[in-house]
Amino acid sequence: EIYPNSGIASKVVAIEIAQIIRSKQMLNKPCILGLSTGSTPKGVYKELVRIHKEEGLSFKNVIAFNLDEYYPMQPDSLHSYVRFMKEQLFNHVDILPDNCYIPDGTLSKERIASFCRDYESRIEMHGGIDFQLLGIGGNGHIGFNEPGSTSNSKTRLVALDHSTRAAASQEFNGLHNVPRTAITLGISAILHAKRVVLMALGEHKSRIVKASIEGLVTEYVPASYLQNHPHATFILDEASAAEL
Ligand code: GLP
Repeated sequence: EIYPNSGIASKVVAIEIAQIIRSKQMLNKPCILGLSTGSTPKGVYKELVRIHKEEGLSFKNVIAFNLDEYYPMQPDSLHSYVRFMKEQLFNHVDILPDNCYIPDGTLSKERIASFCRDYESRIEMHGGIDFQLLGIGGNGHIGFNEPGSTSNSKTRLVALDHSTRAAASQEFNGLHNVPRTAITLGISAILHAKRVVLMALGEHKSRIVKASIEGLVTEYVPASYLQNHPHATFILDEASAAEL
């Protein structure tokens, strides 16, 4: 789906999320959201906050699982995804703090594997992700599943690509400050979500958007796995769709 600009694209996504939350409320059921970070989803979160404040949408039945976190990373660090989610969404809506899950960047190395298994089990225990929101890295990564990630990859500690670290270097005031590793939800869990929306905005994403949608399904472009998902949509602005 191609929209004239990022504002309209963000509204479309927020409206769908709000509808899913409301439909689960009517059934008295929790709504499991898979959430992402980066500049792309900011407009969606802003719109959701507006819908909460102006239209009374409650997030009390929402259980949120974020895709990823840098490792190591303290939650109160300027660059943590915990902080990002609080600033962009969690602090402005009535979601219960106990229902906000984000991979833990403070674990000792020995505890990561069991943490990752528990993260996936918890998602399954709640019946799986109802709606997964994704951005896309310039190299086609989803979450922090870098090129080379297989379609059955699990939640795990990964080494970040140079291009991913370089893209984050300005934010971190220099490449040497960007963590070399991260914990990410695996491709397998992403592909098991009932609904997946990948958003890409801006001309700098146009090459990888084309490769993901029109290229072969390949581990070299992890977002291309979504071609095989029965209910996945790319939401684009004119700029990111320019090469299709
Ligand atoms: C990071 C995040 C991804 C995100 C990507 C793109 O790598 N882990 O989840 O999709 O950045 O970020 P942006 O939306 O800022 O282009």
